[in-house]
Amino acid sequence: MIYYGKQNVNDEDIQSVVEVLRSDFLTQGPMIERFERCVADYCGAKYAVAVTNATSALHIACLAAGLDRGDVLWTSPITFVASANCGRYCGADVDFVDIDIDTYNISVEKLEEKLKDAKQADKLPKVVVPVHMAGQSCDMKRIWELAKEYGFTVLEDASHGVGADYMGGKVGSCQFSDMAVFSFHPVKIITTGEGGMVLTNNKALYDKLCLYRSHGITRNPDLMTHEADGSWYYQQLELGFNYRMTDIQASLGYSQMKRLEEFVQRRRYLTDRYNDLLKGLPVTLPGVIPDANPSWHIYSVRVQLDRVKLTKKEIFGEMRKRGFVLNLHYIPVHTQPYYEKLGHKKEECPEAMRYYEEALTLPLYFSLTDKQQEEVVKNLREVLTL
Ligand SMILES: Cc1ncc(COP(=O)(O)O)c(C=O)c1O
Repeated sequence: MIYYGKQNVNDEDIQSVVEVLRSDFLTQGPMIERFERCVADYCGAKYAVAVTNATSALHIACLAAGLDRGDVLWTSPITFVASANCGRYCGADVDFVDIDIDTYNISVEKLEEKLKDAKQADKLPKVVVPVHMAGQSCDMKRIWELAKEYGFTVLEDASHGVGADYMGGKVGSCQFSDMAVFSFHPVKIITTGEGGMVLTNNKALYDKLCLYRSHGITRNPDLMTHEADGSWYYQQLELGFNYRMTDIQASLGYSQMKRLEEFVQRRRYLTDRYNDLLKGLPVTLPGVIPDANPSWHIYSVRVQLDRVKLTKKEIFGEMRKRGFVLNLHYIPVHTQPYYEKLGHKKEECPEAMRYYEEALTLPLYFSLTDKQQEEVVKNLREVLTL
């Protein structure tokens, strides 16, 4: 079976983890800082906070932004539920901005329209979470301009975007945002098993992120309300969580960072090749904006269903019979029963619904061979012409 994604762990990665297992610190040791510094320097961001996964990263980022009951968070409907749930964890309302069907990212035109309406209704969002679908940056420069005009915090969900480029910088640099979040889940570009990170250039946000990651506790005398009682002393300043990454995970991440460029280059190569091999098939290829060079976490295309006899369900079934497990990223979040119960309706985001009807994700990962990729396309060609 060939699946849509897969991690790549080599002997050096394993050695790096073994060294931590033999060391004095399994958690809260030196590897966390080393991994954080490595990712921050790579992206060109000042600060990085490693956590248990991107879901907890999004949660503490919303808390650091001061998101609270009565506030509003906006995100894209074409994302994993975590991009929206982080708002709900803080008690905020969540709303969705429809996508651009070509790039699958939040539509900046629709965002601008919605902001104008929200301003009139006095219901502007406190936080907007643009999601870099498939590892393609949203048009962050324009979103950042809107943030300045309407006064919201920009939290990039860059879970797919480790290693991606935008306007000559790295996704994660936070040049056009307050914070950016990465995921290190095994199917992502690099992995720590489970893991996530928040990046920022803002020291005040960084201090809050560190607090929320670890029970709201600090040992930093500068942050304490009075002088420390002794060397054992710490203070709890906020209601935080245990969202700490272990040194075991960080050592895997640090080792994987050495191959990040290689991982991304291979994904870009395979994507270019898919674009070539799929020419002439009844599928619409992903569009890329001029300023972005994606990391290609996933390769998602839209089937031109009016040119195909099978339904999408049948296409998935036929491909599976032939040994290829396709996937779909994503079910529009606003149609999930949880969000429907909160009053959301399918019609809110018609482009997201159209995308959902047509999209499918083809296998794409570092170790996918050219030959396997040709097999995927050969079988897809046969299935689409059944
Ligand atoms: C866009 C997006 N945001 C957030 C997440 C949550 O990531 P994690 O599994 O690291 O919590 C994912 C994971 O699939 C994702 O794809």
